[in-house]
Amino acid sequence: MAFSLVQHAVNAQYNNLWIPDTLSGTNFNLTIRDTFSQLQTGNQTIAGGVNGKFWGPTIFINKGDTVHMNVQNNLNDSTTIHWHGMHLPAVMDGGPHQIIPPGTLWQPYWKVTNSAATYWYHPHLHEMTTEHITKGIGGFMIVRDAAEAALALPRKYGVDDIPLVLTSRRFDANNQFITTNSAYGDIELVNGTINPEVTLPKQYVRMRILNGEIERAYNLGFSDNRTFYIIANDGGLLDAPLAVTRIRLLVGERVEILVNLGNDGIGSSIDLKAYNAGQPFGFPGGEPNTTGTFGSLLNNKDFNVLHINIGTATSGAITSVPASLVSNTYWTNADVTTTRSLAITDGNPGPGNLPFCFDHKPFEFNTINHTVNINNIEKWTITNNNVFGHAFHIHDVEFKIIERNGSAANVGAFESGWKDVVYVPVNESVSFIAKFDDYADLTHPFMYHCHFGIHEDDGMMGQFVVSPFAAGVNTIKTDVAFTLYPNPANSRLYIQLADATTEVYYITITTITGRTVMMLPQPDLHSGIDISMLPSGTYMLQLTDKQTKAVTTQKFIKE
Ligand code: C2O
Ligand code: CU
Ligand code: CU
Repeated sequence: MAFSLVQHAVNAQYNNLWIPDTLSGTNFNLTIRDTFSQLQTGNQTIAGGVNGKFWGPTIFINKGDTVHMNVQNNLNDSTTIHWHGMHLPAVMDGGPHQIIPPGTLWQPYWKVTNSAATYWYHPHLHEMTTEHITKGIGGFMIVRDAAEAALALPRKYGVDDIPLVLTSRRFDANNQFITTNSAYGDIELVNGTINPEVTLPKQYVRMRILNGEIERAYNLGFSDNRTFYIIANDGGLLDAPLAVTRIRLLVGERVEILVNLGNDGIGSSIDLKAYNAGQPFGFPGGEPNTTGTFGSLLNNKDFNVLHINIGTATSGAITSVPASLVSNTYWTNADVTTTRSLAITDGNPGPGNLPFCFDHKPFEFNTINHTVNINNIEKWTITNNNVFGHAFHIHDVEFKIIERNGSAANVGAFESGWKDVVYVPVNESVSFIAKFDDYADLTHPFMYHCHFGIHEDDGMMGQFVVSPFAAGVNTIKTDVAFTLYPNPANSRLYIQLADATTEVYYITITTITGRTVMMLPQPDLHSGIDISMLPSGTYMLQLTDKQTKAVTTQKFIKE
């Protein structure tokens, strides 16, 4: 009795860890809107979220399925939703070019080819990424596949398989988020919960950890320094679990770990902590300042991330670590067909005295920085001789880190699996190899950038297109002949193409005044377009031809 009173008193400072809702299947409805969140006592915070919450639902998808996303933007701002880590056509990617205006539905779809791992979705509107991510717009995507399903791993979501998105926020006196002149928050949030605690069963538990920060990195471990096991990097399972006591996680990186709670007493507790004290300058969050743009109350110190209470074991508990996981075939230097080098520099000479960008060229919407030929196996070397560390991320592919500072021996075992974000410390270089297959598109680029929100917003970003080789594109733009029926239409609008071999690349529906209301990349036209949600009126349908990229517009009336 005394024990439980004491424990209650101790626990009073904690809040129950929020476990994000789940969505599964092949058709997902995601509505982005502003929302109020009671993050702290006192005023609610004006946040944003997908399906109504600061940090939206976890989306479960299966490798091999074709998934359809219905992304409705009900913010007062334009935004985008990017599927971080997914291999998909550039037009479906949700980068800065796939803008979703307010009140607009965006419907990308793709066949899932990624392997089982933990991915995420988040806004990516140029110069607005920090603000939209700060609001809490984003969520996990968990890919399942047969190889992962065959392993004895914890996978009861929220029970022994726990998603954890780590971030921090700075609040003003009215509990509102501060996003200007602020790289780091002062208050830690896990799944949007401040001072979280969770009760986990006395057995092996899997944690899927995402660094969802604007800039801070984490050096994670448990309060008793216990060994835990890394089972997956960003884009897939490792060949075998790796025993560690610490894991470093930069913005955008994910790691899946197994931790054994089977030897802990029921009612005892441990903490997952950030061991960020003593980190050198250049490690994001290692700065000594406690205030100002690069200061924070959490900088350069150890702090609690999650308080874990040990509860009773579940039935079917996992009680051991598998000896091996999957067998990966990684690219090696012998496979490389093209090499490419990028330097992290300042923006000079150029406007604005930008502190960080690639090759002295700040991001420009209309500049394609690199053209990659389809099926190239490329070795990219990123060199950083400029003041601070960064988290390099590339869209479209998962890569294998092959060298640090020119040597394979410098690559950590903890980062030996498939990756899409890599830490590039100051005065170091990193080389990785990736294959650029499946999706050639000379019109729509993919991004590479630093994943620190304020760096990418400032222009530390570039873009590449994947070229279809000599296949070329027909640059003669001719109108596509088609009819819309019925017209007026009530619920479904059908498109009759005069030439049945025409492939439709993109359909945009706008109001008569030019406001975009629907965007349909590579639409499946067999069952028509569902326009039942459009208010009555006159609309323009713009059809982009896949071969020629010619855009043809026709009018229709919604009854
Ligand atoms: Cu997490 Cu360019 O994105
Ligand atoms: Cu990405
Ligand atoms: Cu950066």
